Amino acid sequence: MQDSHSPDSHKSGWTNLMTTTGSLLTSMSERRSDFPSLRRVHNGLPLAYLDGPAGTQIPRQVIDAITSYYATCNANTHGEFITATESDRMLDEARATVAAFLGAPDATTISFGANMTTMSYSLSRAIGRMLEPGDEVVITELDHEANRGPWLGLREHGVVVREAAVRNDATLDYEDFRHKINRKTKLVAMGLASNAFGTVNDIRLVREMTHRCGSLLLADAVHFAPHFSIDIQKLDVDFLLCSAYKFYGPHVGILYSRKGLLDTLETDRLRTQEQRAPYRIETGTLNHAAIAGVKAAVEYIASLGNGSDLRSRVLDGMRHLGEHERSLGMKLYDGLEGIPKLTIRGQSFDVPLRAPTLSFTINGKTAKEVCAHLAERAICTWDGHFYAIRPMEVMGLLERGGVTRIGVSLYTTAEEIDRLVDEVRRFVA
Ligand SMILES: Cc1ncc(COP(=O)(O)O)c(C=O)c1O
Repeated sequence: MQDSHSPDSHKSGWTNLMTTTGSLLTSMSERRSDFPSLRRVHNGLPLAYLDGPAGTQIPRQVIDAITSYYATCNANTHGEFITATESDRMLDEARATVAAFLGAPDATTISFGANMTTMSYSLSRAIGRMLEPGDEVVITELDHEANRGPWLGLREHGVVVREAAVRNDATLDYEDFRHKINRKTKLVAMGLASNAFGTVNDIRLVREMTHRCGSLLLADAVHFAPHFSIDIQKLDVDFLLCSAYKFYGPHVGILYSRKGLLDTLETDRLRTQEQRAPYRIETGTLNHAAIAGVKAAVEYIASLGNGSDLRSRVLDGMRHLGEHERSLGMKLYDGLEGIPKLTIRGQSFDVPLRAPTLSFTINGKTAKEVCAHLAERAICTWDGHFYAIRPMEVMGLLERGGVTRIGVSLYTTAEEIDRLVDEVRRFVA
C-alpha cells in the first residue's frame, strides 16, 4: 500500500497542496481530452462525472485497444493460426501488465473473469470445498455485499461466518476484529477501501492478527485500486480482487492468487480446460477484447508517470493521480462541510489515508432528491447504498434512502467541485 501523502491537518494540508499541486491539477486536466465522453453536454451544460466509484469514464487509448482487438486479431485461444496465437500473446501480456499494476510476482498469479462479484463467488465455492463444518470465516460489516454474500453463503455448509463490526464513522472496530479471529479462522475477507464512505482499512493490522491462526487473507481492492497504488508483496495477502471498470478500463474482474495457491483449490472447472493457475478458475471463453482494454487501462495509468519500467511508471502515475484526487477530495470536503442541514458521513481528511469518495445526507431530503436535482444540472452522482448495504443498516442510513455519494477521479476538475458545491448549497436553500 502506498504511504500517505497526508498533511497533519486537512486545512493546512489543503493550503500546502494548493501551492504544490497547482501544476499537477493542470497536468491532470490536460488528460481530459483523452476521454471522449467528457465532451457530452446535457441541458446545455457539460456533464460532470462525479460517479466514478460506480465506474469511471474510459480514455480513447482503451477504446482503441478494444476496437483494434476486434478489427485485427479476434479469435479464440490455443489455435495454430495467426489471430489465435496473437490472442494468446495478448492475454499473456495483459496478465503480466496487471501483475505490474499490482506488484504481483508474475502473470501466472492473475486470473480474469466477468466481474469481481462473479470471481468472488467462484472463489468462495472453491474455498468452501476445503472447509469443514465448524471452520470459521471472518468478514466485515463495512464491506460491499460482493465480499460478504459469497462468504455468508458458506453458512449453509456449517461454516461459522463472523462479522467484524463497523463504527458510526464508517471505520472498522479493530478490537472487535481481533476478538472475531481465533484458531478456527480459516479465511478473513476484508475490503481495502469502502466504496460508500472512502474509509481505507488497516489491512496490515489484520494481517498481524491472522498470523496467530495461519488464516488466509483476502482483500477486496475494487475501491482502493483506482485511487492508490498496490504492492501485493507488502500487503501480504493470499487473494486480491479488483475490477477494471473502476480504473478507466472495461468490465473485467481480476483475481490475484498467491503463487501456487490456486492450484491447490477445487475450483469449478471443466476437465477440458487448462487445470493450472491462472486458468484454473477461468470458466468458458473470456472477453478477450475487454481484456485488451484492461491492459491498455494499466498502460494509460502508467502514462501519467515516469520511470524506466512499467511498474515504476504505474507507481509514479498512481502517485500523481492520488495527489490530484486527494487535493480535490479535500476541496470537496471543505465545500460541503459548511452547508447547513448537511452531514458528511464518514471520516474527514485528517486521517493519513482516505479515498476521495464522500457521502452525505441532508436533513429533510432523500439522497434521490439530491441526485435528481444535480442530474438536472448535468452533474452525475449516485444515491442509495451502492451494495454497501450492511454499513448503511448499521449506521441507520438505509431507512432514509441511503446517502448521496460524490466520487473524484483523474478527470475531475476544481470547477466541477465548485459547481457541485454551489448546486448542493442552492438545493438546501
Ligand atoms: C468495494 C467493491 N467491491 C466489490 C464490488 C463489485 O464489483 P463488480 O461490479 O466488479 O462485481 C464493487 C462494485 O461497486 C465495489 O465497489
